[in-house]
Amino acid sequence: MNSIAVCFVCLGNICRSPSAEAVMRGLVEQAKLAGRIVIDSAGTGNWHIGAAPDDRAQHAAKRRGYDLSALRGRQIAAADFARFDLFLVMDDANAAALTSICPPEHRDKIRLLMEFASRHDSRVIVDPYFGGEEGFERALDQCEDACEGLLKALRAQLVA
Ligand code: 4NP
Repeated sequence: MNSIAVCFVCLGNICRSPSAEAVMRGLVEQAKLAGRIVIDSAGTGNWHIGAAPDDRAQHAAKRRGYDLSALRGRQIAAADFARFDLFLVMDDANAAALTSICPPEHRDKIRLLMEFASRHDSRVIVDPYFGGEEGFERALDQCEDACEGLLKALRAQLVA
C-alpha cells in the first residue's frame, strides 16, 4: 500500500481517541511518514460533537508533549467506513457499536487498539471519563504502547 488511513474510535471522542490520535501523530511525524499515514478519530456517540477534548485529557497529554487543543469531537459517519483502512477501537462497547453500523464488507477493518500493545496485558483501554486523573495517565500509557506497535504493523504494509 502507498498510504494507509486509520481512525481511532471511542465513545465520546473527547478522551481516549483524541489522545490516541495525538500520540500516533507524534510517532508518525518522528518516523517521517506523515504523508503516508492518515490519522483521524471519532466517537460512536453524538454528545460531544464540536467539543474540545476533556480538560483532564488535555492536561495529561500536555505533560507528555502532546497538544490536543485543536481537536474537536465528531461522530463516526457512514462515509468513514470506505475512507479508512483501519478502525482502532478502545473497548468492546465501541467495537459492538461500530460493528452494528458498519457495512459487512468493511467489518474486518475494526480492531481493538490494544491488540497492538506489547507492554500491557489489558485487552481494552477503560473509559477514564467518570474516574480520576490516574485513568487518563493509564490511558495515555496504553495509547503510547499500542501506537508503537501499530506503527510497526503499518510500516510493514507500506511499500518502500
Ligand atoms: P471517551 O470518554 O469515550 O474516551 O471520549 C467519554 C467521554 C464522554 C462520555 C463517555 C466517555 N460521556 O458519557 O459523555
